[in-house]
Amino acid sequence: MNFPDKDFIIENIKKKGYFISKGLLSKEEYQIIRKEAINYFHNKQVSKNKFPKALRGGIKAGMEDILGYTSNEKWKILRGCFFNWNRNPNELSEILKISREISSFRNELIGLKSDYGSFIEDSNYIQYSSLSLYPSNGGFLQKHSDGHAKKNKLNLLHFKIELTHKNADYSEGGFYFWDREGNEICISSLINPGDVLFFDGSLNHEIKPIKGEIGRIGLFEIPTYVEEKSRFRNYSDIGEPKNFFEKIKYKVKYNFFLKNK
Ligand SMILES: [Fe+2]
Repeated sequence: MNFPDKDFIIENIKKKGYFISKGLLSKEEYQIIRKEAINYFHNKQVSKNKFPKALRGGIKAGMEDILGYTSNEKWKILRGCFFNWNRNPNELSEILKISREISSFRNELIGLKSDYGSFIEDSNYIQYSSLSLYPSNGGFLQKHSDGHAKKNKLNLLHFKIELTHKNADYSEGGFYFWDREGNEICISSLINPGDVLFFDGSLNHEIKPIKGEIGRIGLFEIPTYVEEKSRFRNYSDIGEPKNFFEKIKYKVKYNFFLKNK
């Protein structure tokens, strides 16, 4: 990978809100991960109706990877979510390796430890990889800006790798971004194979409805927090005898925990 100068990227992010790192991935890297992504969705798509809903929030510590499909007024998408606590699926091994390498670089850009969010941090903060297919029959994500559920000082610098391209793999729609001056930019028209986009997620962005051929496949890492209750358990008293009152107290707590799971 050919990482550009960090100060140069930061300067551009501060000025315009985004930066396209041209040819960050080598041709070989790009070809391998594009193939992985297209094959992955091709193989899974046959059984579309059996998918659970696509994940958007509600992350629980230790949960399984999930591939979900949702079509409603807010988005139409097939999204795979892959967590660091699970072994990477074989068929996406190169994608997830690259995703985490770029995520480390992004962390360094904003002054964090390179592996920040690769584990559950004290604050419950994590980052996980998401691979999305916006299908060719109108896949979209409505205009929004990203924020954390908890207030913190982390800069919301996202990266995004497009693995299919406008005017080649689909003809209409794509990733649109509103820069710091409010100009609407069709980023997908500016991205070539191997480029990596860095952008301030707190600025508005949208996937406009995709039409034609393969659809739009994009990869990025989502910064978020696991739910506090998913970490609930008093492990230190397992196996210790409990009196009647302690047993009831534990059962009530556990039932509450299960109900809110
Ligand atoms: Fe977003």
